[in-house]
Amino acid sequence: MEVRTFSLDVTDSLAVRQSLDGLPTEWRDIDVLVNNAGKALGKSPFHESDLSDMDGMLDANVRGLIHVSRAVIPGMVARGAGHVINIGSVAGKWTYPGGTAYCATKAAVAALTEGMKMDLHGTGVRVSTVDPGLVETEFSLVRFHGDAQAAEKVYQNIEPLTAHDVADTVLFCASRPPHVNINQVVMMCTDQSSSTMVYRHRQPPLGSIPATPDI
Ligand SMILES: NC(=O)c1ccc[n+]([C@@H]2O[C@H](COP(=O)([O-])OP(=O)(O)OC[C@H]3O[C@@H](n4cnc5c(N)ncnc54)[C@H](OP(=O)(O)O)[C@@H]3O)[C@@H](O)[C@H]2O)c1
Repeated sequence: MEVRTFSLDVTDSLAVRQSLDGLPTEWRDIDVLVNNAGKALGKSPFHESDLSDMDGMLDANVRGLIHVSRAVIPGMVARGAGHVINIGSVAGKWTYPGGTAYCATKAAVAALTEGMKMDLHGTGVRVSTVDPGLVETEFSLVRFHGDAQAAEKVYQNIEPLTAHDVADTVLFCASRPPHVNINQVVMMCTDQSSSTMVYRHRQPPLGSIPATPDI
């Protein structure tokens, strides 16, 4: 399989347009768009949160998804086929304290997914959302602005999902026959039951874990 990579800031709508227009002809007809780029920034109560953190999440998670989707979907519609797979989060379903703005961005992803599905009715273009719970990636390191200790605590004494688990699910959605659309997958590790319910296997020292998980 041939793989082509390029870096792109999804918050920059012009750069998105230029990058897609600049693709060699044989790569321009995009069959599957996975809107994965996103981040959480900070874990403070809403009224103490950094405005630039909140803007950063809205820019990447919502505006970025809109920019890329708006640029790619018309081609799918013209070809009568295509699949948009948005990476949401269980945070879009269950808001948790300290995650207000992040949860709002993922609720927006859920609304965008539902709306796109209806707007694309009859076009042959499929729209899905994969909504994971705790996945051990660089997510928490980014959220805590590089504080490795704080990030490590999020996954302490649990077996979180891996990026492979999520990728495997995205592949499952993308590889269904054309008449099958997986609308939504909500997936969590066995140790997690909601945004705020996480089973930790050994009792860690008092006060060493955050009150709520970081999803
Ligand atoms: N980890 C979890 O627990 C979890 C749970 C539910 C949902 N999610 C969602 O899963 C998705 C992937 O996150 P992850 O866990 O894999 O975190 P990650 O390891 O931090 O990866 C995030 C990716 O998004 C990219 N990105 C961020 N802002 C971007 C921008 N403006 N333009 C282009 N790319 C950008 C990052 O690129 P750079 O490294 O170049 O910045 C990185 O490749 C996100 O949408 C996240 O909200 C994660």
